[in-house]
Amino acid sequence: MCRNQTPTRADESSFAEGDFGISWFSDGMLNVSANCVDRHLETRGDQAAIIWEPDDPEEPARRFTYRQLHEEVCRFAHVLKGAGVGRGDRVTLYLPMIPEAAFAMLACARIGAIHSVVFGGFSPEALAGRISDCDSRIVITADEGRRGGRIVPLKRNVDAAAALAPGLERVIVVRATGGDVAMDPARDAYYDELAAEVSADCPAEAMAAEDPLFLLYTSGSTGKPKGVLHSTGGYLLWAAMTFDLAFDHRPGEVFWSSADVGWVTGHSYIVYGPLANGGTTLMFEGVPNWPTPSRIWEVVDRHRVTTLYTAPTALRSLMKEGDEHVTRTSRASLRLMGTVGEPINPEAWRWYHEVVGEGRCPIVDTWWQTETGGHMITPLPGATDLKPGAATKPFFGVEPLLVDGNGVAVEGEGEGNLCIARSWPGQARTVWGDHERFFQTYFTTYPGLYFTGDGCRRDADGDYWITGRVDDVINVSGHRMGTAEVESALVLHEAVAEAAVVGFPHDIKGQGIYAYVTLNSGEEATDELRQALVKWVRSEIGPIATPDVIQFAPGLPKTRSGKIMRRILRKIAEGEVSPQALGDISTLAEPAIVEELIRNRAR
Ligand code: WTA
Repeated sequence: MCRNQTPTRADESSFAEGDFGISWFSDGMLNVSANCVDRHLETRGDQAAIIWEPDDPEEPARRFTYRQLHEEVCRFAHVLKGAGVGRGDRVTLYLPMIPEAAFAMLACARIGAIHSVVFGGFSPEALAGRISDCDSRIVITADEGRRGGRIVPLKRNVDAAAALAPGLERVIVVRATGGDVAMDPARDAYYDELAAEVSADCPAEAMAAEDPLFLLYTSGSTGKPKGVLHSTGGYLLWAAMTFDLAFDHRPGEVFWSSADVGWVTGHSYIVYGPLANGGTTLMFEGVPNWPTPSRIWEVVDRHRVTTLYTAPTALRSLMKEGDEHVTRTSRASLRLMGTVGEPINPEAWRWYHEVVGEGRCPIVDTWWQTETGGHMITPLPGATDLKPGAATKPFFGVEPLLVDGNGVAVEGEGEGNLCIARSWPGQARTVWGDHERFFQTYFTTYPGLYFTGDGCRRDADGDYWITGRVDDVINVSGHRMGTAEVESALVLHEAVAEAAVVGFPHDIKGQGIYAYVTLNSGEEATDELRQALVKWVRSEIGPIATPDVIQFAPGLPKTRSGKIMRRILRKIAEGEVSPQALGDISTLAEPAIVEELIRNRAR
């Protein structure tokens, strides 16, 4: 087994232009898969590492002990090697929530390959873009996925993506449903057939702490999604330590993060954090409200879950179904609960605390981002006074700074743009293939600081309250969506001349997607076209980008230099009906457009 080699160096990072770079523990050596699997074999070989709950509650759950996990990961590693994958190669995973997703991630880590997990809800177009961006020659997928009783045609999507991503040479297909799918013998192979031929032992590669572990595409305010790159040593330390302390992990507990492995929460708190700690992690294939709104609580009871980690949007949607769906279950095993992904409204927080947790379980509202690798601002249960809606205090070593629009630090009580003043081990190292974009995106708005894109308030007790994104990113059901991405999808449609997308408050999703669309001359603004555009965006990006509202507009409010005034569009989408309340519109090229937009507001 690959042994950890303790580093003599720690933080060697700088946020300053000219000297910019992030590095931690640079002379340390380790393998993430050895730390998450092999290291536990002696003491907890027979303990469950992964419990898998299928979409259909009538089907049996599956359990994998650490010993079984070791075998599965080793086999997967050999299959990857057999397909020509080596150190530093990018492997795209496009999988449902099945145990093989974790095996594949750990197998990549074992042989030093870089995984790029693409959420199974993304369209073939979105998948192809992510395959090509990192020159990934191989995709691991499944025949089909299952979610809430519905089938997701993953392999078919990969086939469609392959037509758009010429560099894709190899597709390995996990048989998840056994559904009949087309196989191209020159390119595709079934995983089980390959795995039957290989050894169940595969030594882990010794990796340097700064070697890349994975990349994960995420949306920003401009351009295409970027491949955020995480390191081996710093990331694992951060995932492991935040998991241990923010969830007050204890041996023998069952931890459940209801996220998908396609998001960073799934990486850090379904796979790496729990397994690095020798914990038991639950993977759930389905959705919280299928077949009934009690499902999430039934899963808690069935597997005696001690710690539940979920998103405010899920809580809000279950809350509206009525308390009886919760109270008819036991939930006696629950000890601690967490939330992530978006600000939690105090009403949902109280419901979670009082109805779900019966006032017994502390709630950790954890603020962090794909770029931070793990929790940054979070209560430590038992040690931090909780406040509904506050992420409370920074984690060890995290130095938050609130700055005003001029970059001046706000002291004491106050509100501002949330920055982090110095590096932390879990910080992303770069954007794949574009280090300059990484620097420009995060470190130039306020020179010398990492800018998060979030607004935040600090109260008199020094507690932090995240107020939401201050850039052109919207948070739909806890998923990040760049307004620019939705706009580019819309303008690709032949009927569309111009599009501007903003967020608006949505009871369940937190924010909804509101699109203003101007049409090419000769096109008619019909309901059919509206529906066609919604469908179009879904097929270009995926269902998570579905516009909630499309308003056809004769023009968009622009400054005389041609810049779209999003502030105005946001206000109108939020329901503002008085032109006076929109602030100064005198700089607009055509102020009359504003009244027209208000008059024809789509909701
Ligand atoms: C938002 C998800 C308020 C925030 C882990 C951030 C939150 C973005 C919280 C990152 C929270 C995440 N309270 N807002 N507890 N957690 N956010 O990269 O706007 O998918 O910038 O990472 O989600 O989303 P991402």
